[in-house]
Amino acid sequence: MNQVKLAPGVYSVGSVDWNLRDFHGYTTPGGVTYNAYLIVDEKICLIDTVKAPYAAELIERISEIVNIADIDYVVTNHVEPDHSGSLPEIMKLATKAKIILTAQGKAEVLKHYQTEYNFQVVKQGDVLDLGKNKLHFVPLPMLHWPDSMASYLDGEKILFSNDAFGQHYCSSKLFDDENDIATVLYEASKYYANILMPYSKLVGRAVEAVRSLDIKLIAPSHGVVWRTHQAEILANYEKWGKGHTENKVVIIYDTMWGATDSMARQILDGIASTGVTVKLYRTATSERSDMARDILEAKGVLIGSSTLNNSVIPLVGSMLIYLKGLNPLGKRLAGAFGTYGWAGGAQSDIEDLLKKTQFDLHDSSLFIKWKADKSELQKCFDYGVAFGKKILAEY
Ligand code: FEO
Repeated sequence: MNQVKLAPGVYSVGSVDWNLRDFHGYTTPGGVTYNAYLIVDEKICLIDTVKAPYAAELIERISEIVNIADIDYVVTNHVEPDHSGSLPEIMKLATKAKIILTAQGKAEVLKHYQTEYNFQVVKQGDVLDLGKNKLHFVPLPMLHWPDSMASYLDGEKILFSNDAFGQHYCSSKLFDDENDIATVLYEASKYYANILMPYSKLVGRAVEAVRSLDIKLIAPSHGVVWRTHQAEILANYEKWGKGHTENKVVIIYDTMWGATDSMARQILDGIASTGVTVKLYRTATSERSDMARDILEAKGVLIGSSTLNNSVIPLVGSMLIYLKGLNPLGKRLAGAFGTYGWAGGAQSDIEDLLKKTQFDLHDSSLFIKWKADKSELQKCFDYGVAFGKKILAEY
């Protein structure tokens, strides 16, 4: 098999899942990778495994380099099954290996795999001597689960960061500078928005910990290895961790017969006339994870819906629930608009859900009976102007 080395004695042994299009609800048009790394020093150490269906491939890749029975350590930086799914298969063969993980990781492995492996629990500052290199452990709790940690190989100066700094991006080239960097950075922002945004408050400390290390490579468990563009990805994480936003509004809406669509377009024009950048997504034709990526740096979000069965169009409601979970940091403004025929109901549902996000709710919502006439379309434009001006003045 193609053997890719990160450094002398450090191999990439993970798998590329080119055809995965849905990663627990996150749309992955280019697929997903499950990176794992093998360190061959005086001791042999596997860093993470891969999703269960790729166990045989992982075993084959390792076996072309070493005898699996000779593995001394399996570092489990994170127990989510995309990284630990093959652990049971590996441990059947790596009979003398110890599993190195955090205390929380041990609890999670026991619950997931119900097997008392030979565990060695580590904490911040603990060091594992591999020979020429030592591995230093850097717990990064909640990036992305309570168990998450990174492992730093000091001789070769490689940080195995697991989910942090990852991207759902597939390529036959492992390193950032061998790929179109704009695409890689875009995928890194989408990954952050959908996987790490809820934990943004913890990101600053993680970046600080990473910056304190002398690093040649950041090797995440998804996507490319950062060899050249580390400064960009660290700076991006730093700003996202502070809830950095820009003069940008995302309009998310859906429509039954086009009336809410015509409102959305007028509102968009009104916002655009203030100089604020606007992006428009109809939920029926858009992916939740793309909308989340655009919300990451947006100062404003507008949610629109026709009234359906005295409530909101279900896909709009689903996006609102997703947004509440993403919990975007920073001062941001949200508003609601749409249409109704008789009893209404969409407005209160949108407003109720928006109140549960971290966004400030705009002074007024804009709901119109049946379909906007000419003067009401002007109201929509004016609503957009007011929303854009408020963004510029107060956010
Ligand atoms: Fe890539 Fe949180 O697992």
